[in-house]
Amino acid sequence: MKIGLLGYGTVGSGAADCLTLHPRNNVELYRVFDIRDIEKIKDVQVKNISDIIDDESIDIVVEVLGGIEPAHSYVKAALEKGKSVVSANKQMLSHHYEELIKTAKENGAILAFSAAAGGSIPWLINLLRAKRVDSFLSVGGIMNGTTNFILDAMQTDDSCNFGEVLKEAQRLGYAERDPSADIDGIDVKAKLALTCDIAFSAMVEPDEISALGIRYINRRDITYFMTMGRNVRLIGMAEKIGGDVAAFVEPMLFSPEDAEYSVSGAGNLISYSCERMGKHSFAGLGAGKEPTGGAIIGDVYDIDAGVSIFKDAQCFSKLKLRTDLAYHRYYLRTAGDFDRTIVSETLDNDVFITKKISVKDMHEIVNRLINSGVEVFAASIYGDK
Ligand code: HSE
Repeated sequence: MKIGLLGYGTVGSGAADCLTLHPRNNVELYRVFDIRDIEKIKDVQVKNISDIIDDESIDIVVEVLGGIEPAHSYVKAALEKGKSVVSANKQMLSHHYEELIKTAKENGAILAFSAAAGGSIPWLINLLRAKRVDSFLSVGGIMNGTTNFILDAMQTDDSCNFGEVLKEAQRLGYAERDPSADIDGIDVKAKLALTCDIAFSAMVEPDEISALGIRYINRRDITYFMTMGRNVRLIGMAEKIGGDVAAFVEPMLFSPEDAEYSVSGAGNLISYSCERMGKHSFAGLGAGKEPTGGAIIGDVYDIDAGVSIFKDAQCFSKLKLRTDLAYHRYYLRTAGDFDRTIVSETLDNDVFITKKISVKDMHEIVNRLINSGVEVFAASIYGDK
């Protein structure tokens, strides 16, 4: 089986290294598309995409270019030629899920993307397995390694500085090319959208998921959380409420009895709750060259063995999200104006605990303040009645 690899950056080279270290049958890295001159791959490198898309001897295209275009056009063209595709590109996949799933099915190809959500954790694969036999009540958790790395460092080392830890996350290969995708929750929106796509067999537009990030967290916030006996984590969550789905991304405060409280470094912890089987949680490294490379080659080997569960992925409709149905209490720090009737406790003149308020209303308050140039940090309080 011949592989055409699109992109030899951090993740692409991690996938290539995994193939070398753990070869299988006659699965072969046959061509690598990258427009830079790279000595290590000079024997297989091509700079013209048609040398992969139009080469009938190539069975599987592995896409790790990042960005939406041209990755989307290349993946679509490969599927139309009947080639199976393995991609780790969550932004591209989440924005074009419906179209690409249909294109794969129409052409008898498989579109697999384990590495797009959860990194090395077998998250989407197990979501597909559970979906065969049960229905989901909720899906989500800690889905971004970079923000977990930053929040963990801020909570365990009181001299650490947000900017410096972010640089370290970039150096370790965890952060996105533009790390605002991590700290503003854009990365989690894409991963949560793909999770919902699979869980509910329906397309969720990532841009319709409401998100609060961690950009403005500071040491005072951390000190309040320590006083409350809680740790803060960035969460992506979708809950079935009645016949609707509420999906959101926001910082959340956990107690020591919650598993999320202890997730350290670039760890992820993602769970689904089902109607009949209960709750299953998956933990491990969600980012980095080697974990992501391993997840990609795992998908390639499943396709080679004819056992890829991604053939079960379906998309029947578009899902409308309802963040007005989910209610939380929030920690809120801001010197800006907002409707004080939502306050239940005042901790300082600019620090509050709110009453239960809908995710929709809280996100609107925070985003309005941020857009008017006011610094604000909000985190929901998990399990708080
Ligand atoms: N920037 C992402 C993260 C990479 O930190 O989780 C893995 O998707």
